[in-house]
Amino acid sequence: MAQEEIRGHGRIETNNFLMIVLVLLVIAIGGLVEIVPLFFQKSTTQPIEGLKPYAALQVVGRDIYIREGCNNCHSQMIRSLQHESLRYGPVSVAGEFVYDYPHLWGSKRTGPDLARVGGRYSDDWHAVHLNNPRAVVPESNMPAYPWLTRTAADSQTIQAHMRGLRTLGVPYTDDEIAKAPAEVEGKTELEALIAYLQVLGIHRK
Ligand code: HEC
Repeated sequence: MAQEEIRGHGRIETNNFLMIVLVLLVIAIGGLVEIVPLFFQKSTTQPIEGLKPYAALQVVGRDIYIREGCNNCHSQMIRSLQHESLRYGPVSVAGEFVYDYPHLWGSKRTGPDLARVGGRYSDDWHAVHLNNPRAVVPESNMPAYPWLTRTAADSQTIQAHMRGLRTLGVPYTDDEIAKAPAEVEGKTELEALIAYLQVLGIHRK
């Protein structure tokens, strides 16, 4: 029996290479249609009203948060589901994160979401909790971070860090960068980390 000529869609389905190229093309177009408009929408590129860039000590605290891997157990993103906003507060919006480099939204929640933890507890509570979580939450399985209180916050690299953030679009003034080391000098890593935690989510209540 003579082989029939394969035409039309049949040609795509019988040719691996053509299939791969066309699948990639379709995914690329789909991706571009979803992603490109985000770069031009005010709601994703403009800070929400009242949002301020992290102060010097908070920038240092955020680095400690990343170094200690807090983001492996804690997300910073309240999703648009009722049980999330009932537990954690108003749903997160893109404009809250325009000064976050890198983003720490995360998806793994061994511990609770921290997107709005700022102001929920006192500085003293955080100090006790970070030093030994079991002292305030007996059933907690969060690790203890006792060295933070014994380690000085790094005031040497803060200016370079803030200048780097400025090139990414965070509007730090020369004055803020000039004064940064003095704000960090003499503080412990614990104080820096708490300063960071206390500002999380406070701009949108
Ligand atoms: C192994 C997972 C894990 C890691 C890592 C971790 N945590 Fe936690 N965290 C938890 C759990 C579980 C809880 C809930 C129990 C408690 O309050 O201790 C919690 C609670 C908290 C709370 C209280 C939140 C609330 O709304 O009550 C804060 C603040 C917090 N963690 C900050 C941190 C910081 C800062 C770091 C990094 C230095 C960190 N966590 C690292 C698991 C973790």
